[in-house]
Amino acid sequence: MTDTPERIQTSEGKSRLIKHFEKSSINNHNEAWTNLWETNNDDMWDRGKPSPALINLIEQRPDILSPITADGRRKKVLIPGCGKGYDVVMLALHGFNATGLEISAKGVATAERYAREEFPSPQSYNFGSSTSRPEKGSVSFIQVYPGANLILSESDSCRLGKANYSIL
Ligand SMILES: C[S@@+](CC[C@H](N)C(=O)[O-])C[C@H]1O[C@@H](n2cnc3c(N)ncnc32)[C@H](O)[C@@H]1O
Repeated sequence: MTDTPERIQTSEGKSRLIKHFEKSSINNHNEAWTNLWETNNDDMWDRGKPSPALINLIEQRPDILSPITADGRRKKVLIPGCGKGYDVVMLALHGFNATGLEISAKGVATAERYAREEFPSPQSYNFGSSTSRPEKGSVSFIQVYPGANLILSESDSCRLGKANYSIL
């Protein structure tokens, strides 16, 4: 299994992103993000793998970031603005039930495709120096609609036939 080389975020990439948002008012930023995805400009922020700093934090602070609660339940984690889902998959590989929120439908489809490929046979870039491999959690993605105030998620009891939703 080979690692994908890190795509360096160039100063040109940063200035393209800044210029894009300078053209639109804060009220139009949802559309501005969607536009970047629809015009295949989603490379401007993409490092091609999860955040190494987040991996280190998760692995080095199990005292506060264990994926399991004191009474044995798997913790849920929400990742707003998840993009292609690198951090969502990485967190699920570290034992969390991870849900990514993304405003772009194309972003969600891209993240779901990435998760389908990466989750079953993860590359080494998902892990840091820790050799412990907790049992995997789950991965899901939700498309956020502009103006939404509540995000509801089917809870586990739905599988038992009860109409139960959690407020995320
Ligand atoms: C700078 S990118 C970061 C993506 C990802 N976190 C990463 O590190 O690769 C920001 C992402 O947030 C999404 N986004 C922007 N505003 C959002 C909102 N209000 N709700 C959900 N996602 C949003 C964008 O479409 C984009 O994919």
